[in-house]
Amino acid sequence: MGRLNQKVAIITGALGGQGQVAVARFVAEGARVLASDLAKKPHGEVAKLIAKRPADVAYVGGDVRDGKVLEKIVKAAVRVFGGVDVLFNNHGLMVGKPFLETTAEELDELLAVNLRAPFLLSQLVAREMVKRGGGSIIHNSSVGGIVGFPTMAAYGASKGGLAQLARSMATDLAAQGVRVNAICPGVVDTDMPRRYLKDVEDKAGAFKQMAAMHLMNRLAEPIEIVNVALFLASDEASYMTGAVIPVDGGLTAI
Ligand SMILES: NC(=O)c1ccc[n+]([C@@H]2O[C@H](COP(=O)([O-])OP(=O)(O)OC[C@H]3O[C@@H](n4cnc5c(N)ncnc54)[C@H](O)[C@@H]3O)[C@@H](O)[C@H]2O)c1
Repeated sequence: MGRLNQKVAIITGALGGQGQVAVARFVAEGARVLASDLAKKPHGEVAKLIAKRPADVAYVGGDVRDGKVLEKIVKAAVRVFGGVDVLFNNHGLMVGKPFLETTAEELDELLAVNLRAPFLLSQLVAREMVKRGGGSIIHNSSVGGIVGFPTMAAYGASKGGLAQLARSMATDLAAQGVRVNAICPGVVDTDMPRRYLKDVEDKAGAFKQMAAMHLMNRLAEPIEIVNVALFLASDEASYMTGAVIPVDGGLTAI
């Protein structure tokens, strides 16, 4: 008996480092998954899973900044799988730039992807969840939404907003049985931190410094974040809503 048996989950950012692991893990626990990401067609693990288990995984490509894409994602989940029980708002964009150099366009883009899109997608999904008597929404925030880091003003503001969105949504949706929580990963070993360090000469040294910010002195593996999302998606977390949970190897403990 899988921990997500009978559940339908939407996972955004599904082709990214954490997203691919989340799709595979959720399906392994019995969920049917509507995966979505920027690319028109799926690739990697998600494409393999769709080929292997077409009844359990479907894919919608598109930019989450576009409201029509958000509608398409939710409509596809309802059409193909009959409704939605879980939303893992996992997509995200990171721009690392000093505060004084960040442009208005960069700020707008970060807020549109990391905050506006999860807000609007959650609205569409929560309406479907209410019809089914409840559900679980998980936002993938960041430790950058809890503490301040250099070059992360715009990213941190978007992720801090996303964490607060979880608390506020939880208060509005509790009576309808929709739980809303946010997870705040430390640095996770995906392409995101690699892109951040692309212009740094001493990459090994920079990764060592990044690792040293965590009490555990290492980056997270994607599965270590996904396992917490899985728990929040499942009925095991039935008494959890409005929580903002660091999954950060102790980074915010110091
Ligand atoms: N990797 C880290 O160190 C880290 C730390 C804390 C939080 N996070 C958060 O975890 C989540 C997953 O990130 P990841 O580590 O897998 O990185 P990733 O870059 O591998 O994945 C992010 C995914 O989001 C998708 N995306 C970005 N903009 C989009 C848009 N406009 N429309 C649709 N999809 C879009 C990308 O295509 C990508 O597949 C993100 O929200 C990220 O901010 C990551």
